[in-house]
Amino acid sequence: MGHVRDLRLFLLSALPLAFAGLFFGGVYSYNRPPVLRKILSVPHSYGDDHNPASPQQVHISLVGEDKMRISWITESSTPATVEYGTSPTKYESSANGTTSSYRYSIVYKSGEIHDVVIGPLKPNTLYYYRCGPASGRDFTFKTPPAQFPIKFAVVGDLGQTEWTDSTLQHIAKSNYDMLLLPGDLAYADFYQPFWDSFGRLVEPLASQRPWMVTQGNHEVEKIPVIHSKPFTAYNARWRMPFEQSGSDSNLYYSFNVAGVHIIMLSSYTDFDPSSQQYKWLEADMGQIDRKITPWIVVLVHAPWYNTNTAHQGEKESDEMKASMEGLLYQARVDVVFTGHVHAYERFTRVYNGKADNCGPVHITIGDGGNREGLASKYEDPTPDISIFREASFGHGQFEVVNATHALWTWHRNDDSSAFVSDSIWLRSLSSDPACQYRGQR
Ligand SMILES: [Fe+2]
Repeated sequence: MGHVRDLRLFLLSALPLAFAGLFFGGVYSYNRPPVLRKILSVPHSYGDDHNPASPQQVHISLVGEDKMRISWITESSTPATVEYGTSPTKYESSANGTTSSYRYSIVYKSGEIHDVVIGPLKPNTLYYYRCGPASGRDFTFKTPPAQFPIKFAVVGDLGQTEWTDSTLQHIAKSNYDMLLLPGDLAYADFYQPFWDSFGRLVEPLASQRPWMVTQGNHEVEKIPVIHSKPFTAYNARWRMPFEQSGSDSNLYYSFNVAGVHIIMLSSYTDFDPSSQQYKWLEADMGQIDRKITPWIVVLVHAPWYNTNTAHQGEKESDEMKASMEGLLYQARVDVVFTGHVHAYERFTRVYNGKADNCGPVHITIGDGGNREGLASKYEDPTPDISIFREASFGHGQFEVVNATHALWTWHRNDDSSAFVSDSIWLRSLSSDPACQYRGQR
C-alpha cells in the first residue's frame, strides 16, 4: 500500500517538477557528469513495535547559548514532550513544545512535526533523551563547549546518495561539536517523501550533535500556481533559532558558540540594501563584541567567489556580493563558507575581487555528495586569488583552537576513506593589528 502511495505521489510530483523546470531552467542548466553511486532512499523502520508514534528523523539545533531544540516526526499524533538527563535512561527533566504539519500542493501532507526546546544545559556534556511518551527509542547528544577549542564539521549540497553516506561516515568519526551546512539538504526537489528519507539518513548524526543549517535553491520548492509559497518543507522541518538574533525569518539568523559568531544568510531572499535581511545583518554586525566572539563566520549558499565554470553569473552570487560584501569586510568576517558549486575551492583573503589581508577567506564546500554529481570544469588559467580547487566529494573541518588561531582541513572522499587534501592555519582578523578598525569592540 505504501509503495502504491509513493508511486502515486511520485507521478503527481513529476508534473510540477517539469513545470518548475521551465521557471528555474537557469539554476538547473549545468550539465554535470553522471553520478557513479546509487541514490539512497531510507524507509521508515517503525521500530520493533511498528508504532506510528515512534519518533523518526530526530535532529537537534542550538537555541541561545545553553538550550537545544529537539525536532522529530511521527506518523500519528503524540504529545510534543522530551524527557532528558545526564544519566542513561534516567530522565530527571522534561519539557513540552509544539506540533505542526504542512501540506505541499494538493497531494502531500507531512507527518506530525514536533519541536521542543530543552535546557538550560551544561556545556560540553553528554545528555540522554527520548522523544514523546515511552517511545522505546533512546538518544544521546553532546552540547558544544562554552570556550575554545571547538570543532565544526562543514558540508554543503549533501543530498542522499552513497557518496553522501561516505561523507556522513567520515564526519561521524571526526569528533566534531557542531555541523554547519551552507544549503541544499535533501534534494527532495518537490517530491516531499525525499525530505523524510533525508531526515532518516542524517538522524544518526543529527540527533547527536547540533546541525545548524541555512538553505539553498533546492529548498525553495516554489511552483507557480501549484505551490506558490517558498521554503515550505524547509521551514517546517528545519526550524533554526532566528528569533534569538532578532531576525524575522527562519532563512537568516546568527548565534554565538564558544567564541565564534556564526551568521547564516539566505541567497534566495531579498538581499539589497533596502531589504529586511540586509537591515538585520547590519544591526547584527553592529552588536558583535570581538572580546566575546573573536571569530566571525558567515554561511551562504551561492558563492561570491567561484572559478568553476558551473553557476557563473547568477544574481544570487553577483548581486548579493555587490550588496553585502562591504558589510562583511567592515565587520572583519574571518571565513565565508558557501555551497552550490559541487566541488571544493579555497580562496585567499579577498575583498572586491582582489587579495586583501583584512578580507574573509572564501571557501566553497558544496561537495557533500548529492545526486547531481561533480562540477569539474574550471576557468583556465587559475585566477591568482584561487588557492586550491578540486572537484571531489568530501567535507571540511574547522577547528577553532583559541582566540587567534584555527585549523581548516578539507577531507576528500577518496575511494570511501577520508583523505586530508587541503589544510591551512588561519589567524583571526580581530587579533591582527593591521586589520583593527574604528568602532571595533
Ligand atoms: Fe545549490
